Amino acid sequence: MSPIHLAQLCLFSIGIYAFSLFTYLVFYYDLFSTLFLGEIQSEYDFIIVGSGTAGSLIGHRIAKETNYTFIVLEAGGRGHSFHDIPAFGPLLHQSVFDWNYETEPQENACFAMENSRCKQTQGKILGGSSKLNNMIHIRGNTSHYVEWFHGKYNKKYIEDQFKYIESNIFHLNNIKYDSNLGEAVLRAAKELNFKLLKHDFGIGFMKSIVTQNQGKRWTTSYNLETSKYVFTNVLVEKLLFIKNKCIGAQITTPKRMTLFAKKGVIISAGTFNSPKILQLSGIGPEKLLNSLNIPVVKSLPVGKNLQDHIGTGLDLVLFNNSQSIEMFDIMNLWNVFQYFFNGKGPLTTPGCEVIGFISTKNETSPNLQFMVLPVGISADRGSHLRKTLKIRDTVWNDYFSKIFDKYTATFLTLLLHPKSKGEVRIQSKNPTVPPLIDPKYLSHKDDLRTIVNGVHMIRKLIETESLKNIGAHLNNIPFPGCENFEMFSNLYLECYVKHLTLTSYHPVGTCAMGLPETKNSVVDTTFKVLGIDNLYVVDASVLPTLPSGNINAAIAMMANIFFENNFKEILNINKVDFCNKISFRDFLLNTCPVR
Ligand SMILES: Cc1cc2nc3c(=O)[nH]c(=O)nc-3n(C[C@H](O)[C@H](O)[C@H](O)COP(=O)(O)OP(=O)(O)OC[C@H]3O[C@@H](n4cnc5c(N)ncnc54)[C@H](O)[C@@H]3O)c2cc1C
Ligand SMILES: *[C@@H]1O[C@H](CO)[C@@H](O)[C@H](O)[C@H]1NC(C)=O
Ligand SMILES: *[C@@H]1O[C@H](CO)[C@@H](O)[C@H](O)[C@H]1NC(C)=O
Ligand SMILES: *[C@@H]1O[C@H](CO)[C@@H](O)[C@H](O)[C@H]1NC(C)=O
Ligand SMILES: *[C@@H]1O[C@H](CO)[C@@H](O)[C@H](O)[C@H]1NC(C)=O
Repeated sequence: MSPIHLAQLCLFSIGIYAFSLFTYLVFYYDLFSTLFLGEIQSEYDFIIVGSGTAGSLIGHRIAKETNYTFIVLEAGGRGHSFHDIPAFGPLLHQSVFDWNYETEPQENACFAMENSRCKQTQGKILGGSSKLNNMIHIRGNTSHYVEWFHGKYNKKYIEDQFKYIESNIFHLNNIKYDSNLGEAVLRAAKELNFKLLKHDFGIGFMKSIVTQNQGKRWTTSYNLETSKYVFTNVLVEKLLFIKNKCIGAQITTPKRMTLFAKKGVIISAGTFNSPKILQLSGIGPEKLLNSLNIPVVKSLPVGKNLQDHIGTGLDLVLFNNSQSIEMFDIMNLWNVFQYFFNGKGPLTTPGCEVIGFISTKNETSPNLQFMVLPVGISADRGSHLRKTLKIRDTVWNDYFSKIFDKYTATFLTLLLHPKSKGEVRIQSKNPTVPPLIDPKYLSHKDDLRTIVNGVHMIRKLIETESLKNIGAHLNNIPFPGCENFEMFSNLYLECYVKHLTLTSYHPVGTCAMGLPETKNSVVDTTFKVLGIDNLYVVDASVLPTLPSGNINAAIAMMANIFFENNFKEILNINKVDFCNKISFRDFLLNTCPVR
């Protein structure tokens, strides 16, 4: 490393250590405060597990529109408003606010990462994964969601749900900070005859629309009066049942205690943790439960059907001059001032400025998404981003550290509808042990081929006048492990994709919605766990397939449907319940108190 790069590395590292020290302080302050917070009651109408995109939305609507008592239990802590600075999002990866999960060693993917394991970042913080995400809001193809409900709702109903959340729940904005690169990519797309998309969905390119409020990150947890309803640093260990009825949960706060839910438990713990909680509670594949001596409450394919949007393209495009945001822009005090006083400037960047949807098969429906990010992981000289992906030393030294003299951009090429499916399963009865995550990335040949064809499209994009004019060129250093293949041939790119496999952190499907008795179904179209009363799963894990785009909006739409329809159904059922105010003892004995 040259002296100047070494100096940069030192400087960036100091900044990053300072920020992580701050994050620790915030975390321990919150942990300490929760010890003195108001007592958790032992009984509520509803218990919501997880304060992420889905859990917070449901809690907000229960609070505003019903008189039910409820509580949101969150395993993570409360962040600080500094953690809402969009450009700092990546700093939360691998922090105390990340579950720090990773995949099992992959047979066909993630070879560039230590032990062939890809990191699986998910938020462990009030607000969930949307506190770490790129804030992109996109509906995707709404026809797909009609299929999830097997005809229960039509397309118009789904679109109305999106309209509802977009005008009543979310704060949406255009990106506040444009770099040279974003504009050039849109011009390049036009050169290749791609449509510039507005709100409608199809083949084409668009600037990102983001969940931001005055430049600040915005998440559904902002609607919720969190000091009143959310208890942080509470780990839900397992659920409690009487026969087939869920009656509450066992939690640690860190003290172990039992909470009862009179009307229902809503699991919104995300794609890895929702199946984990169900399996620990005895709802899952019988073989798995038996192998761990967990009594079977209900045998269901919980944890199967794991799917994710994966692809490649990190630091694939290089420039001789800066086109966009640099590390120094983020540390620049003027920009910090701009952010706090005007909600503008480079600190508001979502990371991804432009997205594109293309078909490698010349069809009208896209099979790939492009996400254009103005930086790559070499930008911070290895002080942080490299660690969030666990890049192997040889790959770092022979590939990424060789482009320190260049300015990099990332053109992520992501598969929209992968055919490879994996699974999540617990490895112990101990609720603090992480689940085994095996997405079986690229186990289906078609997935590899589609991503390779996507990289060829990126090459075409780079060849356009618009991008050539600003000096874009492909990174043509042979990727370590793929040196034997001819540069950018199909064989080379197959090797490259298998090595530099990247997730866009969109895992879904592990508690899939479906018709009863079909292969992967865990919840029915009312979000109720099959065969169990008073238990619902509402989060990314119920999405039976991946949307055609980033998934946060689809998850919020699903949570809204859960409330709009099913919750009201629950209310109706409870109205005809023979007794309204019922003590917990009576509830258990299923009797009515004498009035
Ligand atoms: C790095 C990253 C970038 C992304 N970028 C985008 C993007 O640009 N656009 C987009 O649309 N989507 C994006 N996503 C995806 C999107 O943000 C997530 O899919 C979405 O937030 C998931 O919502 P959820 O409600 O299913 O779960 P989460 O938001 O993950 O919430 C689950 C919550 O449950 C808590 N929890 C889990 N287990 C327990 C337990 N046992 N006890 C108590 N609490 C528990 C967790 O701590 C967490 O707070 C991104 C995700 C990541 C990680
Ligand atoms: C909630 O309670 C208040 C006061 O008792 C009542 O006016 C209101 O109608 C109730 N709301 C619902 C949705 O039941
Ligand atoms: C793509 O499809 C269109 C119309 O279906 C056709 O006109 C065009 O030639 C096709 N392009 C390629 C490259 O196959
Ligand atoms: C959306 O999905 C439907 C059903 O799969 C498909 O017929 C349609 O072509 C898709 N639309 C777009 C624009 O991709
Ligand atoms: C970038 O710099 C290299 C030398 O470092 C030079 O060969 C190349 O032509 C330059 N590219 C552009 C587009 O200016």
